[in-house]
Amino acid sequence: MNILVLHGPNLNLLGEREPAVYGAMTLAQLDRLILAEASRLGLRVRIFQSNHEGELIDLLHKHRRWAEGVLINPGAYTHYSYALRDALAAVALPAVEVHLSDIRKREKWRRVSVVAPVCVATILGKGAGSYLEGLKRLKREIGKA
Ligand code: DQA
Repeated sequence: MNILVLHGPNLNLLGEREPAVYGAMTLAQLDRLILAEASRLGLRVRIFQSNHEGELIDLLHKHRRWAEGVLINPGAYTHYSYALRDALAAVALPAVEVHLSDIRKREKWRRVSVVAPVCVATILGKGAGSYLEGLKRLKREIGKA
């Protein structure tokens, strides 16, 4: 099973960015955990990070025939990017939305996710664990098809 993993804006600064909220782990360390879990689950992953909405959309388009599922942390695009939401709907792949922090317990504007309605699941507030659980959830989802 092939999984496209997308990290949205500002996630490249993990480790130094608001560590009280997002933890001390760097993106490279997070990616190593994702790769290890993927290999344990027998999944092939391609991982990208972008600070640009259009680039995230281009990555979805580009990998849509290779990928059987999408694991995405859209960062702040979660809360207002109808373009990203439409791209997820357009590629019609099972997608799991993940967040390091629990966006339901933060500022009011962060509690809204415009991508959630086009995702099969949303996993929040477990740090790197959100991604690892998201991989397992996707494997189950793809296995059903
Ligand atoms: C985030 C939560 C978003 O609100 C924020 O803009 C991020 C990270 C998370 O993983 O907790 O960039 O998606």
